[in-house]
Amino acid sequence: MKSVRKIRRAALAGAAVIASLGASGAAQAQRAPAAAPPSDAEVRARADALIAQMTPEEKAGQLTQYFDFTNAPEESKRVTDEMAAARAGSLLFVNDPVELDRLQHIAVEKTRLKIPLLFGYDVIHGLRTIMPVPIAVAASWDPKVAEDGQAVAAAEARAVGLHWAFAPMVDIARDPRWGRIVEGAGEDPYLGSAMAAAQVRGFQGSHLGAPGHIIAGPKHFAGYGAALGGRDYDEVNLSDSELWNVYLKPFKAAVDAGAGNIMSAYMGLNGTPATGNRWLLTDVLRKTWGFKGFVVTDAGAAHDLMTHGFASDNQDAGVRALTAGVDMEMAPPFGTSAFKTLPQSLAEGKITTTQLDDAVRHVLEAKIRMGLFEQPYVDLKAAERVLNDPAHRVTARIAAERSAVLLRNEGGLLPLDHKRVKSIAVIGPLADSARDTVGPWVFDQKDDETVTVLAGIKAKLGAAARVDYSPGVTMPARLHPSIFESGPHAATARPQIDDAAEIRRAVGMVGSADVAVLVLGEGWSMIGEQASRSSLDLPGRQQELLDAVIATGKPVVVLLMSARPLDLKGSKPGALMNIWYPGSQGGAAVANLLFGEVSPGGKLPYNWPRNIGQIPLPYAHLTSFQPKTSEQRYWNEPNSPLYPFGYGLTYSTFAFSNLKIGKGTVAPGEAVPVSVDLKNTGTRKADDVAQLYIHQRHGSAARPVRELKGFQRVTLAPGETRTVEFMIKPEDLTYWASATRDFVQDETTFDVYVGDDSNASLTATFEVRKP
Ligand code: BGC
Repeated sequence: MKSVRKIRRAALAGAAVIASLGASGAAQAQRAPAAAPPSDAEVRARADALIAQMTPEEKAGQLTQYFDFTNAPEESKRVTDEMAAARAGSLLFVNDPVELDRLQHIAVEKTRLKIPLLFGYDVIHGLRTIMPVPIAVAASWDPKVAEDGQAVAAAEARAVGLHWAFAPMVDIARDPRWGRIVEGAGEDPYLGSAMAAAQVRGFQGSHLGAPGHIIAGPKHFAGYGAALGGRDYDEVNLSDSELWNVYLKPFKAAVDAGAGNIMSAYMGLNGTPATGNRWLLTDVLRKTWGFKGFVVTDAGAAHDLMTHGFASDNQDAGVRALTAGVDMEMAPPFGTSAFKTLPQSLAEGKITTTQLDDAVRHVLEAKIRMGLFEQPYVDLKAAERVLNDPAHRVTARIAAERSAVLLRNEGGLLPLDHKRVKSIAVIGPLADSARDTVGPWVFDQKDDETVTVLAGIKAKLGAAARVDYSPGVTMPARLHPSIFESGPHAATARPQIDDAAEIRRAVGMVGSADVAVLVLGEGWSMIGEQASRSSLDLPGRQQELLDAVIATGKPVVVLLMSARPLDLKGSKPGALMNIWYPGSQGGAAVANLLFGEVSPGGKLPYNWPRNIGQIPLPYAHLTSFQPKTSEQRYWNEPNSPLYPFGYGLTYSTFAFSNLKIGKGTVAPGEAVPVSVDLKNTGTRKADDVAQLYIHQRHGSAARPVRELKGFQRVTLAPGETRTVEFMIKPEDLTYWASATRDFVQDETTFDVYVGDDSNASLTATFEVRKP
């Protein structure tokens, strides 16, 4: 495992960033892919025809994915030799189109069967144009934002020669200590499912192989978000009820949306490593859900079955992963590849030809559907055009605008008035940091194409106001350097300043400004993989900076750049807006929000705890003993969150009324129509998100106090009213009950709540009864 980490660091350290797109003869060799997708039967027949010609070694090769070591000549030669000998079917982490094209030429021209390589990459929230991080996009409560963003990411990725994104991450996260909360859609399975399906549609388009699209790889199957203590990679123990009703739901939605790939998780689920878990990978994924794509391990996770104390040796690891349902092994370092031992296991009767061929077929079918046999190479000129498409920047800006969540706005401090603000002090270590603005999991962005908050404000105000800037304090380095950090983006490369002196300078600046805008939070490498935290405090001396600025008495706007809820220790700035890691157009979006060109309309995708001791604190908890005392469970503070799931203010006000249930009694299997009137009662055009929650009063199992079952983001002019229609489907009333060990729909009474957060008070009921 350690060596995989080292390899990735090395690969990233030297990775040429979408370099030298110049001349190449590759494009001429291409034929346009067929307009209509081939039929399943045709795809299978083509795959089987190839399989019939393959040796066991060539089959194992198709199931093996390597890193390219472009910057390590020795290793690079070994990979190239492996490819030329048809012992690699896929590569990851190559990002230079010229290199991708070169490698593909080797596979297609130098190997016996001329099977093209499949190139996978962590295209998590953009390739060159960076969208807000996935948790931010979930906060838009607008699946179209997710779909559009991943469609842009797919277009850029496909243009440079990539075929497959290791995304979306659809792991439910109910513990903000876990750094990978940034990559998902938060704590709720309904919102998570909507975002999962939208991202699959965005990546893949209408079908696998749609032009300008790539394969989506939902990950990490399954349960990774429930890591013990929020510690990355730690074991996960989940009840069947939590698995089926919460953690598996977004995966099911992604599979139903047609995802072509699934990535298995690193950790053990209830004692069985996910990558060797036949129940997960075969019984649930293939047999119950009918998944037709291919399964890849997480990096090195097959070999790692030994680390778990599961497989006895490397060969056993290969056998256990393959027979559990894995099709491809990701990134085995040389000498540790478990799937390289498959020919030997076949010879020894430890696996069957059918098992091997099934896995190979899943991989080949993906290559066939993607049109790689017809069009394996990179069109370098087209790549240049796509990467520079100005429409992509617009999509990124809109996504950032729609993701922001306004948490406080005392006395209507925001939006700032263009005409009245003559001087503004922009303060904070994240205010002018391009690298932090785009967040974790980006490798091909260009810092000079990223609009920081400071740059966005300056561009918006022009000569009309004075803009002063101070970083305020240093952003501290991580305890252990991140596996992703290198070169100018390493934490150690951050400017080191004298915090005490800079806080004094910042306070002085605020004293002579009309308003202070503080950009505080966590640096990009403090969240993501291997970035769990045991604290929700602002890192470094940011809290001190915040309190000193508030003490000036000037109006203070805090913009939080973070993807986990932070504990501001009761500080009360005039306005507080969560801008997440808003992406490469983040600063432009933030400026539009600050000055009221657009109104924030995002809502929290998780409960925001008062402090870390409350974790986990899901809104959809079960009622239990003495619910009336639920606010008295801690002696030192309330039980409730600081801000509830679904919460977010706007620059206007909204009122819900007229909640109507279409049918007071329905039969099991029937849908329930619900409508509500939503009125903009304020003076500005703005968005609100109508949210529908249900609560089952009694039945085969205890059910959560509230569960989201519908939402719609609506834009309304001042005074305008819209009737929002929902349809509660029978599957929304069905759940997995531990008593029956199956899905049930009870005859029972449901409460319905509609409003604009999970504390919604407008309520009605309906009954489910057999006629
Ligand atoms: C992560 C995956 C990622 C893979 C390849 C792993 O460590 O868990 O999410 O896709 O590396 O970079």
